Amino acid sequence: MNERPPEAEIGVIGGSGLYALLDGATEHDVSTPYGAPSDRITIAEVGGRRVAFLPRHGRDHRFPPHKIPYRANLWALRSLGVRQIVAPCAVGGLRPELGPGTFVVPDQLIDRTSGRQQTYYDSGAVHVSFADPYCPVGRRAVLAAGERVSPVDGGTMVVVEGPRFSTRAESRWFAEIGGSIVNMTGHPEAVLARELALCYTAIALVTDLDAGVEGEHGVTMSEVFRVFTENTAKLRDILLDTVTRLPAERECACPSTLDGIKLPIDLP
Ligand code: ADE
Repeated sequence: MNERPPEAEIGVIGGSGLYALLDGATEHDVSTPYGAPSDRITIAEVGGRRVAFLPRHGRDHRFPPHKIPYRANLWALRSLGVRQIVAPCAVGGLRPELGPGTFVVPDQLIDRTSGRQQTYYDSGAVHVSFADPYCPVGRRAVLAAGERVSPVDGGTMVVVEGPRFSTRAESRWFAEIGGSIVNMTGHPEAVLARELALCYTAIALVTDLDAGVEGEHGVTMSEVFRVFTENTAKLRDILLDTVTRLPAERECACPSTLDGIKLPIDLP
């Protein structure tokens, strides 16, 4: 393990079933004012870009969604130099046409979590814009990289507190209020990235139809992991291709998120 991590420019936060990504990577322990991130961060070069990988749940999946150290994870990546993040995650489909194996690149989010620490700014007046939670440039890169699997362009991700899955009534209601997919980790990850002026793009892999559209037994964990594992190779290809398509210089609005705001903390 290296003592001083090299800089990275792009971060990938792996979800359930994606605990490693990079070949020939070096491993680094990174500490933050918010404690340790979910695991050691691995860094490697991919197509000439320096990429940092962090498994969101830890490599042994020791952190359930509501216990993930989200603040430490985003802070650690930024402290390595990361400014653009691609975030794969497993989701349930809230609509029959979004069945297992479908890739979705969401453009909206509905937060149904409770009690999670969702800000770095517990003092001062820092209110970031979050109307469009995902980076438009990152979304385009993922959609282009995923062309072979025809990813769905856009969708609203409902993020539930978990760790339980939703009831049929909740699931139907999520669809009624405009949700297309549901998961447990999309918030506060996206907003914390925005609070650090990072670009953040989610890539959702549908592992199951959620209870409102599923007819029989309800969602099971084994089904989620099985479908994710079946699609890991495709996801890995999309991620590695996405990395090479992200711009070297950011021209989206994400870097100017904090312009003109007096921050109560120093960012790394
Ligand atoms: N992650 C994968 N499938 C899910 C579902 N149906 N509900 C919440 N999180 C999920």
